[in-house]
Amino acid sequence: MNTISIKELLRLEKAGNTVQINGWLRTRRDSKTFSFLEIYDGSCIATIQVIAPDSIEGYDTVVVKMATGASVSVTGVVQESPGKGQRFEILAQSVVMFGNTPAEYPLQKKRHSFEFLREISHLRARTNTIGAVMRVRSAMSYAVHTFFQENGFFYVHTPIISTSDCEGAGSIFHVTTLDYDKMPRNPEGGVDFTKDFFARQAGLTVSGQLEGEAFALSLGKVYTFGPTFRAENSNTPRHLAEFWMVEPEAAFFRLPDDMDLAEKFVRYCVRYALEKCSDDIAFFNERIETQLLARLELIASNSFERLSYTDAVNILQKHNDTFEYKVSWGSDLQSEHERYLTEKVFNRPVIVYDYPKEIKAFYMHLNDDGKTVRAMDLLVPGIGELIGGSEREERYDVLINRMGEVGLDPASYWWYLDLRKYGSTPHAGFGLGFERLLLLVTGMQNIRDVIPFPRYPGNAEF
Ligand code: 4AD
Ligand code: MG
Repeated sequence: MNTISIKELLRLEKAGNTVQINGWLRTRRDSKTFSFLEIYDGSCIATIQVIAPDSIEGYDTVVVKMATGASVSVTGVVQESPGKGQRFEILAQSVVMFGNTPAEYPLQKKRHSFEFLREISHLRARTNTIGAVMRVRSAMSYAVHTFFQENGFFYVHTPIISTSDCEGAGSIFHVTTLDYDKMPRNPEGGVDFTKDFFARQAGLTVSGQLEGEAFALSLGKVYTFGPTFRAENSNTPRHLAEFWMVEPEAAFFRLPDDMDLAEKFVRYCVRYALEKCSDDIAFFNERIETQLLARLELIASNSFERLSYTDAVNILQKHNDTFEYKVSWGSDLQSEHERYLTEKVFNRPVIVYDYPKEIKAFYMHLNDDGKTVRAMDLLVPGIGELIGGSEREERYDVLINRMGEVGLDPASYWWYLDLRKYGSTPHAGFGLGFERLLLLVTGMQNIRDVIPFPRYPGNAEF
């Protein structure tokens, strides 16, 4: 038997073949002598209409008992569909049901709120919208690898369990096997982590960057793409406690090279989504965000704006009356400011660079002014920060100084400092939040809806 997916079926050149499809029932409509079954199988946004005549075996016992969500296998002949919007339908010769659903099945055919769907994350990918999101997520993962592999970057698996706090933000989830009821104590009364599994305090990584740098200074151009964890209590539509990050790192790159790479990468991903996920994107454009296609075309076909933090602040200050948080030189840009720049001022993605050192991490290259570092953030409409990156501080003495200023113990970063002692070179990289990229290409509003099982404060169900 010729088992095919609905996606393959809809690409057949002509009708006439006998095929088998496996999927689930979206809806059933009965008429006098036959039933219409609308089947989906996850392979694409489209469903296929099946006509099940009452003459087939089990019509009375199976077909008319099938409820929304029932799993079925249909064998029949592909024929041209007289209906609008669909090329083919299947005239069934046999319909087999594997599992039916009871009346309390939560996904009846109607609109459900995304909040409700989050409570049934184990079922929600069966809906049109979340199913489409997850297909796009898969395609974009492939796009990430394709882009870097085709541009000479090697994929490095940086560790998930880490003992260095890359962003220095203190938002680390700790990893321990100590018994909470019988914590070993040191003479000072603190927890004695030398008794812990790793003989020191360990945590889940907030970024693979530091280890990525070690590999950039070995292989030249590398990238990581993996889960990262942040225990920040951010209940926003743009933050997750567990998210995936894409982090390229390249030896001999300076900040402008880093910005070029970020822009090329984002435009590649957007073009990839437009080309390879056109059906799902069309669905999002129709149902989720009517400006989506226009925005994606704009991003794919225009260069990004670039301006310094100082210039950005000068622009933003003129509009301080519209902001909840007022901007002045030295303040961190909030999402409202980032969005104002990219949506109102420039109407396209914007790269802001040369930030004050006080609001950025310790590892960034200090500019000659002594005040700013070679950092860059890439901001996109609808979201704000999509990418954060920098040219790294490659000068041993300057780095030691910076670590002293922010209170980091050089001893625990001995290996990172070695990279500055042995054949140090300029190098740069960035981190792109993969779920934020998905928000961009799908037009979805909440980051909790673009990852299969979201983790956020108060929630780690499933
Ligand atoms: O700006 P961030 O914190 O930069 C770093 O971690 C660097 N070490 C990256 C590097 O240079 N290799 O994070 C990078 C990106 C952000 O721009 C954002 O898109 C995403 O990661 N991100 C989050 N996404 C979802 N939930 C969170 N809590 C996020 N925090 C950061
Ligand atoms: Mg950042």
